[in-house]
Amino acid sequence: MRILGIETSCDETAAAVVENGEKILSNIVVSSSKIHVKTGGVVPEQAARQQLTSIIPVINEALTQAFGKKPIIKYFEKEIDAIAVTVGPGLVGSLLVGVETAKTLALLSRKPIIPVNHLVAHIYANWVEIKPKFPLIALVVSGGHTDLVLIKDRGKLNRIGGTRDDAAGEAFDKTARLLGLPYPGGPSISKEAEKYFKKIGTSNIKKLNLFPRPLTNEKNFDFSFSGLKTAVYNYLKERKLNQNDVEYLAAEIQEAIVDSLIKKCIMAIRKFKPKSFLLAGGVSANKRLREKFLNLIKTEKLQVFHVPTANLCTDNAVIVSVCSFYNYKPKNYSEISVKPDLTITAEI
Ligand code: KG4
Ligand code: ZN
Repeated sequence: MRILGIETSCDETAAAVVENGEKILSNIVVSSSKIHVKTGGVVPEQAARQQLTSIIPVINEALTQAFGKKPIIKYFEKEIDAIAVTVGPGLVGSLLVGVETAKTLALLSRKPIIPVNHLVAHIYANWVEIKPKFPLIALVVSGGHTDLVLIKDRGKLNRIGGTRDDAAGEAFDKTARLLGLPYPGGPSISKEAEKYFKKIGTSNIKKLNLFPRPLTNEKNFDFSFSGLKTAVYNYLKERKLNQNDVEYLAAEIQEAIVDSLIKKCIMAIRKFKPKSFLLAGGVSANKRLREKFLNLIKTEKLQVFHVPTANLCTDNAVIVSVCSFYNYKPKNYSEISVKPDLTITAEI
């Protein structure tokens, strides 16, 4: 089965064709993030306008790369079996562009359409490369969400914890802005931190302990990142930064976020003893986070630990297609609408 996936939840416009949930025939992502560098963050109205400009060329390119050049409706005669689209969570204006386009294509082609939860789709990025064993725990760390979920079997999601305030990605983005680093903050902080690590050597990284790791001594699976933003703000108030300070602070911020995430994940692994542990979402592209998680395979004796390749961690449409293949629940196009506040466990 070949599914055309469409993703427009934030500032990426993406379309992809995936066969049987694993063979990627095309994967097109156009980001409007450069426009948001000026404002230091996504302006929803701007993002939605960019989605409108990009959606048709992006879908056309995904279909052309997969099957060669044809009139768009011809692809739906033999090559495409279904259309999957992100319905939420995300920015309402951005979501509407993808959802209404997908509905139009479904109506014209009479193909099934499958609504997809963006957060669940992030978890399914892992299925492109492996077939994880259940029960599993997944940590979804993106720009707007941080959720720890226990999945006993396919479709049986139970949220065991998550952030009480800012998401992990938001913490990267907001503290990067305080340091004067460009949006998106995660990759910017990671780049500066790497420079610092090169100077101090890896054995000294564990000494980094300037910022708080809230809730890490509590026996729950929750996170809190808004205090980090305030701590960085207060630290910066009376200081003028040079390049070395920026690199040092980036390393401290990254360690604080990564430590907070790792501590709760270890607690969850020890309590629920899952067969697999999966990382997902844009922040899981972070090099330091990936390294630290890889160490858990040895210390926590996990059968399977997996993190998707970096380009499948951040927003793309391959994950939408793969998620819909494994959770194939088509709907009539008239029943599909955007759900900006969708939670990770909500029925669509
Ligand atoms: O999943 P995603 O692409 O979009 C959302 O669904 O939100 O995640 C975007 C978030 C942003 O906050 C961005 O700063 C963060 O992922 N991010 C990273 C890295 N790459 C992207 N954070 C830390 N390190 C990275 N390498
Ligand atoms: Zn995302």
